[in-house]
Amino acid sequence: MLSDKMLEAFNKQVNAEMWSSYLYLSMSAWFEQQNLSGMAGWMKNQALEELMHAMKIYDHIHERGGAVTLTAINAPGTEWASPLAVFEATYEHECHVSSLINGLVDLAIGESDHASNAFLQWFVSEQVEEEDVANGIVEQMKLIGDDRGALFMIDRELGARPAPAAGPAEE
Ligand code: FEO
Repeated sequence: MLSDKMLEAFNKQVNAEMWSSYLYLSMSAWFEQQNLSGMAGWMKNQALEELMHAMKIYDHIHERGGAVTLTAINAPGTEWASPLAVFEATYEHECHVSSLINGLVDLAIGESDHASNAFLQWFVSEQVEEEDVANGIVEQMKLIGDDRGALFMIDRELGARPAPAAGPAEE
């Protein structure tokens, strides 16, 4: 059984993960407009992954006997100055999500909710990876500067990212 505080915080996190999905889908659409289909595909997969994160928490709430309350998802941005700006925004957003996850862990500890704490450790590890991957792309993009040829090579490389394979409950 979840405490009221924990339930409210998890419901907020479902919304935050859905918003992340929306943000990355918007970035994917922007890349499509720039004819960078590899980056568009990478972002679409990122959006799917965020949807899976939301569903993982959605399932956890139900497993713990709580009620999921879905709320409005704010509109994401639609314009970015450059591909580098998109990935910088991605990295910043992932750092923000990490702070949200840390806040949830703090709350779980404060509420002596060991089950939620254990559940959240998957997200703690996931955020290390998410930050690392986004930062790695930012660094790569900085290295290539204005080199269009290198940009298209990175586009092809990022386009090779496979779609998330596991279902929401497994991944
Ligand atoms: Fe669900 Fe990328 O954090």
